[in-house]
Amino acid sequence: MRRKQLLLVAGVCTLASSAMGQIFAPAEMSRQSSECLECHQKLNPSLYQQWGSSKHYRGNVGCYECHQADRDDADAFKHEGFTISILVTPKDCARCHSKEVEEFAGSHHSKAGRILGSLDNVLAEVVEGNSGLVTQGFPEGVSAAAVNGCWQCHGSEVKVLPGGKLDPATYPNSGIGRLNPDGSEGSCNACHTRHDFSVAQARHPDTCGKCHLGPDHPQKEIYEESKHGINFFSKVDEMNMDNEKWIVGEDYWAAPTCATCHMSETKNQPVTHDIGMRISWNNRPAVSIRPEVSDAKMGLPGANVPWQVRRDNMKDVCLSCHQTQWVDNFYVQYDALIELYNEKFAKPGIELMKYAKPLKSSVPFANKIDFTWFELWHHEGRRARHGAAMMAPDYTHWHGTYEIARNFYSKLIPELRELVEDGLRSGDKDLVDAAKALDAKIEEVLNTDDHKWYLGKMDPAEAAKRKKAAQDFKNRYNED
Ligand code: HEC
Ligand code: HEC
Ligand code: HEC
Ligand code: HEC
Ligand code: HEC
Ligand code: HEC
Ligand code: HEC
Ligand code: HEC
Repeated sequence: MRRKQLLLVAGVCTLASSAMGQIFAPAEMSRQSSECLECHQKLNPSLYQQWGSSKHYRGNVGCYECHQADRDDADAFKHEGFTISILVTPKDCARCHSKEVEEFAGSHHSKAGRILGSLDNVLAEVVEGNSGLVTQGFPEGVSAAAVNGCWQCHGSEVKVLPGGKLDPATYPNSGIGRLNPDGSEGSCNACHTRHDFSVAQARHPDTCGKCHLGPDHPQKEIYEESKHGINFFSKVDEMNMDNEKWIVGEDYWAAPTCATCHMSETKNQPVTHDIGMRISWNNRPAVSIRPEVSDAKMGLPGANVPWQVRRDNMKDVCLSCHQTQWVDNFYVQYDALIELYNEKFAKPGIELMKYAKPLKSSVPFANKIDFTWFELWHHEGRRARHGAAMMAPDYTHWHGTYEIARNFYSKLIPELRELVEDGLRSGDKDLVDAAKALDAKIEEVLNTDDHKWYLGKMDPAEAAKRKKAAQDFKNRYNED
């Protein structure tokens, strides 16, 4: 399964640039690549033009340098006298870009294909889908919802058919954590669109927006709503997006893009392809956790990088444009929102769902309340946290905390109470006991300081203060 090392004869290589020390460019286009072009220039004019405008073309990196394969490679096939493969995986790019590949391999991005078995997966495979898509690679069938949905962002497990053909359920696919036949994980062209592989394109927020959008992680929408996004779109022609050197505060200053904050160079940090190295929370689970905890679970090297270090890395980006107080205070605001969501809704919600378990069908998503709780943390719960992380008040509030609260009080609690009533009426001793326990838990949660307003039990001093404020407001605006 090993691919052949690119043969670089001493003397015909040039060092591409000092900043990219490990990159070697052949001195001239190889004989093999010239042959590919004889046919493919006419066959695929768009592909040829994209490649022709790339740094690879200028660096004499041709078709063969990327598509060459070893006879033993699982996806190799004979083609016009050459042994090639269609897939060009991180392992192939690593021949010339080992630093980027290593960083990427240590990141969550490269592991995004390992979602099989997650709760969401039941959704695509069973709840939304069926096994109706039958291919040679999937004789038992596979869900078209997973193939066209989850897998296009997270990555498929590419299956090779006889003759080097690729199973249609698994290719085309540029999911960021694609499981490749050569054992490597991920796909570089999830961000580096072929065949121009331009950094300018990768630095653009739309690149990340293919995946980072929608109800459960609307980072693209959040960015567009934020002051940063507003400034980016109004001053995009001042961003010097295609500069070779792209240091924030030196080569551009109008606005940060996703890449600026999560990947790109600052005066003190090089580019990183591990997008986890600047974030201090992982806001994907129901309760936010620290990134070193989630990295440890995935066996990533980041398990040894505490969140404080990552936060300092991010602050270094912010400080290219802002002052210390501005940045420190921002993190106070952000942390407080995470704490609010975790303590007021997520932790009690998890407890309540645990108590509800014996009273509902054990089949996931066969109960109305399963959807209610799932959306509470997985959709609005994330939106509130992501909105606060990246300065989009509408996502924090109206698409976030407001919807969490509405669904907690007007759906989750009433649905839990229905389970209590059904349990008490069941006549089954175990169910009656479970119903009593759940009822007591609901009362306990609702009687905490965070929730007792709902029972009309607000602290009298606070109630009086709120009443006075409301009266003042009415007086100011002459309302009755
Ligand atoms: C003599 C002409 C010719 C030469 C030389 C040639 N190709 Fe092709 N190539 C083709 C044709 C025609 C097809 C389309 C085959 C088909 O449609 O099944 C093709 C298909 C391919 C595919 C597969 C596309 C797919 O999705 O199935 C790749 C990748 C490819 N060529 C790369 C190369 C590379 C790399 C070289 C040089 C090492 C090369 N070709 C040399 C004519 C050529
Ligand atoms: C820098 C590496 C690189 C170079 C150079 C390169 N390719 Fe590719 N090519 C890729 C990647 C990456 C893909 C996407 C395959 C995948 O999903 O892994 C691809 C896909 C393809 C495909 C299938 C895609 C389709 O749309 O049907 C063809 C055909 C192809 N390349 C031909 C060529 C030809 C011809 C050249 C030379 C003009 C070339 N490539 C140069 C990396 C490269
Ligand atoms: C044979 C060596 C080789 C291979 C294989 C290779 N590259 Fe490159 N790459 C280069 C060279 C040389 C440059 C140009 C460096 C320069 O001009 O500064 C480059 C530049 C780049 C750039 C920067 C482009 C820009 O606009 O500045 C990106 C991104 C890139 N490669 C991605 C990839 C990806 C992704 C793959 C695998 C699909 C890949 N490369 C495979 C040699 C290679
Ligand atoms: C539009 C692209 C897209 C689709 C479609 C998609 N996801 Fe995701 N998924 C993402 C992104 C982006 C994240 C990371 C969000 C974040 O960091 O805030 C993610 C996160 C996840 C996580 C959390 C991973 C972790 O580290 O905690 C799981 C599990 C998951 N997705 C499963 C699925 C499943 C299963 C499906 C199909 C039912 C699916 N996703 C569909 C883009 C997508
Ligand atoms: C999440 C999106 C993303 C993925 C996935 C990705 N890159 Fe990049 N890459 C970028 C961005 C953004 C830049 C530009 C950084 C800058 O210069 O500001 C970049 C820059 C580069 C460069 C130019 C050198 C540099 O440090 O600026 C190379 C080479 C490169 N990437 C190779 C790869 C390879 C190889 C892979 C696959 C292992 C890969 N990239 C995967 C986003 C990505
Ligand atoms: C092809 C889909 C895709 C693209 C494009 C993409 N991402 Fe992601 N991203 C994901 C998925 C899926 C995850 C969750 C991975 C997991 O934990 O399983 C993720 C996770 C992340 C994380 C959390 C990392 C961590 O360690 O917890 C950050 C930050 C991130 N992406 C930033 C970016 C940026 C910035 C870009 C663009 C330069 C980008 N992503 C492009 C799919 C994508
Ligand atoms: C001004 C800098 C900045 C910009 C621009 C930015 N982010 Fe972020 N991003 C952050 C900060 C700060 C956090 C929270 C970090 C922490 O938890 O300490 C974050 C968190 C994230 C996360 C982690 C979410 C999770 O589930 O924990 C993802 C994914 C992400 N950003 C993607 C993006 C994408 C995609 C874009 C562009 C559309 C983008 N970011 C633009 C600063 C930025
Ligand atoms: C490239 C420069 C640049 C970088 C880097 C940058 N910002 Fe900003 N930021 C701006 C600009 C410009 C504004 C708009 C200022 C205004 O409203 O007049 C802004 C506004 C803000 C705001 C105010 C939002 C609002 O709605 O009023 C906050 C908070 C903020 N930035 C925090 C951060 C944090 C935290 C980071 C690092 C994670 C960061 N910024 C990185 C340029 C930057």
